[in-house]
Amino acid sequence: MSDKLFIFDTTLRDGEQSPGASMTRDEKVRIARALEKMRVDVIEAGFPVASPGDFESVQAVAQTIKDSTVCGLARALDKDIDAAGAALKGANSARIHTFIATSPIHMERKLRMNPDQVVEQAVQAVKRARQYTDDVEFSAEDAGRSDLDFLCRIFEAVIKAGATTLNVPDTVGYNLPQQFGETIRLLREKMPNADKAIFSVHCHNDLGLAVANSLSAVLSGARQVECTINGLGERAGNASLEEIVMAVKTRQDVFSCQVDHIDTTQIVPSSRLVSGITGFAVQPNKAIVGANAFAHESGIHQDGVLKHRETYEIMRAEDVGWSANRMVLGKHSGRNAFKTRLAELGVEFDSDEALNDAFARFKDLADKKHEIFDEDLQALASETYSEAASVDRIRLIALKVCSETGETPEACVTLQVDGEEKKLCASGGGPVDATFKAIESVINSGTELQLYSVNNITSGTDAQGEVTVRLEKAGRIVNGQGADTDIVIASAKAYIQGLNRILAPSDRAHPQGADV
Ligand code: KIV
Ligand code: ZN
Repeated sequence: MSDKLFIFDTTLRDGEQSPGASMTRDEKVRIARALEKMRVDVIEAGFPVASPGDFESVQAVAQTIKDSTVCGLARALDKDIDAAGAALKGANSARIHTFIATSPIHMERKLRMNPDQVVEQAVQAVKRARQYTDDVEFSAEDAGRSDLDFLCRIFEAVIKAGATTLNVPDTVGYNLPQQFGETIRLLREKMPNADKAIFSVHCHNDLGLAVANSLSAVLSGARQVECTINGLGERAGNASLEEIVMAVKTRQDVFSCQVDHIDTTQIVPSSRLVSGITGFAVQPNKAIVGANAFAHESGIHQDGVLKHRETYEIMRAEDVGWSANRMVLGKHSGRNAFKTRLAELGVEFDSDEALNDAFARFKDLADKKHEIFDEDLQALASETYSEAASVDRIRLIALKVCSETGETPEACVTLQVDGEEKKLCASGGGPVDATFKAIESVINSGTELQLYSVNNITSGTDAQGEVTVRLEKAGRIVNGQGADTDIVIASAKAYIQGLNRILAPSDRAHPQGADV
């Protein structure tokens, strides 16, 4: 058995299935570059048949990435496999990941197929995928609730048809660690050709057990884990990449496989990048990448850490990419220092124009804020990227807000809508409420605000506030984000970004919808 644990990242595919987390092609390429820098083995870039946008994203990632394998998802259908094969054409290393459901409930109620038909379709799909690449992964969707003997049967058949990786998804996050580990052990023991493929796991976090289940499977011989940055993913998310990698690295006394090929110092920058792009903030107490993950509050802990770090720390913050020297730039820093620090953070601009734009924003920010930290630079780069990439219908031109004790707050907003300037004022329960009402009175979007949250990007009262909004319209959900030292302006930026996203057309299909 290999002693390497393959890390398969599905942030760009399953992660994107989180409500509101959809990403543009350029955003996907930026995240893929960060994953390549981290040296993950496989990047699942999307579901090419879902929409022309998804196809182009997978194609762009496939053409950009050289050091990781790029993977496209396909149901066990000819049209899906052909789309994945076409999108991956020209990739340095390409994988097609095809799947069909195997649990009684999914076969009977969703697919309306009998087990023989499911095996036959899986075999045909794998054979077709092999016409495009030698690297074919097969997933038994809802394996966590499937019959073990049926799993053995379908896996045996797809190996014979040419599958090289067998994925065992706990699609609905139903399994418990001991049970899931046992499933992997039994599959490996019972299947006569088990040694001909790598066993992979893909766990969802509905019971908060995705990482525990994945690690239990690794202890039973799984050698690929499918995971996402920050645990992003459908519903409660997937197993988090950073937790899987650091658990295996930190507990080498228990695991007989390694993740030495992963550059763990890229974890925190990648986490920030994904959270900035998707608008999914990282909770402060999140393991590895949360703001408090290495902060010692109690006096006893601080005393212990100062005397001997390992009294309370099992990992080093710098090993996962928290920078020791956090104050990076200030008002007098030049363009070169700015560009160099961004490059160290994995941010590179395609044109001088974009760099100049970002530098101008940096100078503006430095006027308002004494010290500029890595987090500020990343927020600023995200804003520059998203403005350059989008064809926004709505732009914020000006905002004036009046908030006084005993008076009803009022906001007047000037927007450019499809090239035309419009100004309207509204009052509200507070300055943010008044601002959103003023924007709505111009746009009349009919969206519902489902979530509004503010995070300090760094500490201090001069810190930038990062606002996230989640908007819903006719069942479609999008996130919007904005950062500014003035949180009312940050809120307006976030709301406008959300509106631009929800007003843009979307024709994506869900990979796990019926249709087989
Ligand atoms: O959760 C799941 O079963 C999936 C498959 C497509 C692998 O995402
Ligand atoms: Zn999934």
